[in-house]
Amino acid sequence: MLLAALALPLMIQSTPYEEPLRPQFHFTAKAGWLNDPNGLVFFGGEYHLFFQHNPFGTQWGNMTWGHAVSPDLVHWRQIDHAIEPDRLGTIFSGSAVVDVANTSGLGTVGKPALVCIYTAAGGTNEASKGQPFTQCLASSTDGRIFAKLPDNPVLGHLEAENRDPKVLWHEPTGKWVMALFLDGNRYALLGSKDLRAWTRLSTVEMPGASECPDFFELPVVGDRGRMKWVFWGGSGRYRVGSFDGTTFTPETESIPTNFGNTGYAAQTYFNDPNGRRVQIAWHNNANFPGTAWNQELGIPTELTLVSTPDGPRLRIHPVSELARLHGPLVKEQGSGWFPVESGLIDATVSLEVPPTGTLALVANGQRITYDAPSHDLKCLDRSVRVAPVEGRLRLRVLVDRASLEIFAQEGAVSMPIFALPVDGPRGLRVERTGAWTGEVKVYPLNSAWPAHGGAR
Ligand code: FRU
Repeated sequence: MLLAALALPLMIQSTPYEEPLRPQFHFTAKAGWLNDPNGLVFFGGEYHLFFQHNPFGTQWGNMTWGHAVSPDLVHWRQIDHAIEPDRLGTIFSGSAVVDVANTSGLGTVGKPALVCIYTAAGGTNEASKGQPFTQCLASSTDGRIFAKLPDNPVLGHLEAENRDPKVLWHEPTGKWVMALFLDGNRYALLGSKDLRAWTRLSTVEMPGASECPDFFELPVVGDRGRMKWVFWGGSGRYRVGSFDGTTFTPETESIPTNFGNTGYAAQTYFNDPNGRRVQIAWHNNANFPGTAWNQELGIPTELTLVSTPDGPRLRIHPVSELARLHGPLVKEQGSGWFPVESGLIDATVSLEVPPTGTLALVANGQRITYDAPSHDLKCLDRSVRVAPVEGRLRLRVLVDRASLEIFAQEGAVSMPIFALPVDGPRGLRVERTGAWTGEVKVYPLNSAWPAHGGAR
């Protein structure tokens, strides 16, 4: 009797992924804290997403690599943690590669290893007291069970709290290249033939950024097969330049991409079966009150480099797979009202900008405004100037339980916003003063957690 009475409150609690505040298409840990995405790699027919995780609480601590897998970057399933703290420290951020040529000897050529390169944060747990931050390997041939290298670390301490190794394969010089955060806004590039022995190559400066580097090459769209290198820092700033296998020579200043109130420590996939450069960020102010989990990840985006009068610049768009969650197109119910009962919205706006007037998109009660004369795009306390392209304002707005992700100006501007829900009808209201003409398309989104069972 007594036991049954005690069990009742637990039974009436909502199941994971159905809680009122639970993001429905942004990744969250089933329970506990999450920060940086780590080890983004496509392996064994699945997208792997590792993440900085506190399995024991909803605040930062006990850093462990949590692990989730997905067939399509949209539907995720959280599985057993991949890498746990040890005598070298707790497990800070890093990356993962597929060692196809078995340079490390950790797999075979027929069965290559997924190799994770992570920071052991010495001094952050009892067992590692007094030790520095170093870089280590853990590998797996099945994508489920990970074994740390017995002779870790593979890279000793360089300086300060050096961390967040991001590793790529550099084909022209036949070696692995690691970008590593050193201190301040300085990063190191290192090279290795086997992922085990590393030598220092050069140093990169990224004004306005520290931590979590990324480094990759992209073709410049509209520039006849020209390739350029992008060096990326934790705050979402990047520099475009060239790389000769030793030195990155920046050809631009440090350029911001993120004009929202959230987003940090983004990382791109090592590989993508469709050849894209796919990125995921951490929504770093996503504080969910009174929930079993905390923080969320941004939706996966595709990065491209396009040719502009100022030189090659990054463009950021949500991955096309997001359309897998679309329900049937919503019809306008008069006076610019598009009802979406679930409150999960994917809206596209393409409107001719009049000389005067204001446009407001009110999504579940949250206002996004655009002022025609000044070209100011605003949401909450954030604003950015978005010049019309061919006379038009083009926006994509994704609305989840507690976030709005706004993409503008053909992907030149991304404005991710974390905002807890406010009262009001669920859906999108388009309010306008002035003569705005064009198209507004609203799709409802389905939950990414299948059959409400969640990513188990
Ligand atoms: C960035 C960061 C990384 C570090 C990790 C620890 O958010 O501070 O530099 O590896 O988080 O969780």
